[in-house]
Amino acid sequence: MQRLQGKSALITGAARGIGKAFAAAYLAEGAMVAIGDINIEAAERTAGELGEGAYAVKLDVTDLASIEAAVKAVDDRTGGIDILINNAALFDLAPIVEVTKESYERLYAVNVFGTLFTLQSAARSMIARGKGGKIINMASQAGRRGEALVAVYCSTKAAVISITQSAGLDLIKHGINVNAIAPGVVDGEHWDHVDSLFARYENLPIGEKKRQVGKVVPFGRMATPADLTGMAVFLASSEADYIVAQPMQIHRLEAVVRGT
Ligand SMILES: NC(=O)c1ccc[n+]([C@@H]2O[C@H](COP(=O)([O-])OP(=O)(O)OC[C@H]3O[C@@H](n4cnc5c(N)ncnc54)[C@H](O)[C@@H]3O)[C@@H](O)[C@H]2O)c1
Repeated sequence: MQRLQGKSALITGAARGIGKAFAAAYLAEGAMVAIGDINIEAAERTAGELGEGAYAVKLDVTDLASIEAAVKAVDDRTGGIDILINNAALFDLAPIVEVTKESYERLYAVNVFGTLFTLQSAARSMIARGKGGKIINMASQAGRRGEALVAVYCSTKAAVISITQSAGLDLIKHGINVNAIAPGVVDGEHWDHVDSLFARYENLPIGEKKRQVGKVVPFGRMATPADLTGMAVFLASSEADYIVAQPMQIHRLEAVVRGT
């Protein structure tokens, strides 16, 4: 039996990485999936690759008009949005004394504003339709602790956890379950970028930071996006109807890794 048969999902930042893997898993469970991304060419390529049921929607989560247009596009195409995954996010790192206003504003615009207002727009549509819904916010283990060099990103993910808790408590009366997934370290293009930033700030060879973090995960390796799809399908399904306001931790690092 397909667990998301006939459901309509919007996944932000789904042109690549974790969002793309979630899209593939939702399609396999019978959902229609909007690949919402600021990079529309990549979103269209991904939708083409994923095949029937997937379609691209241009979406900049830092822009309210773009968010509302994307939710409307999903509603118009499918009859109403059932599932939102707030997955788009940016990463940066710098020592506290070097954090810039530009980097702070860029990360908060996508990771916090984008999460809150895409959630709001989808929730308004779900409430108007009266059939409830599921909203999943991508948090991170980074939101549950500080990390030297990662103050801004960590704090955006702490905000995502907090928004999940408040929105979960507010929206459950409408049958809308808001939860979050808090992964540890997931390999892919995102972590290629993270690794290169650590290489610069900690004077490491490329690939070394990935090796270090992989070693301190309980599994002894970084996750792949496919390791997270079970949780994403579960939280979007009726099996999670009695789960609300929870940041579901996938794994955590057993030690804080510092450069040599
Ligand atoms: N990769 C990890 O190790 C890891 C760990 C914990 C949490 N996460 C979280 O999981 C989510 C997905 O991570 P990923 O590794 O797949 O990231 P990624 O960088 O590979 O993908 C992010 C996507 O978001 C899109 N995007 C960026 N700005 C946007 C905007 N303004 N509007 C719409 N789309 C935009 C990008 O084009 C890209 O396709 C993020 O929220 C991330 O913080 C990732």
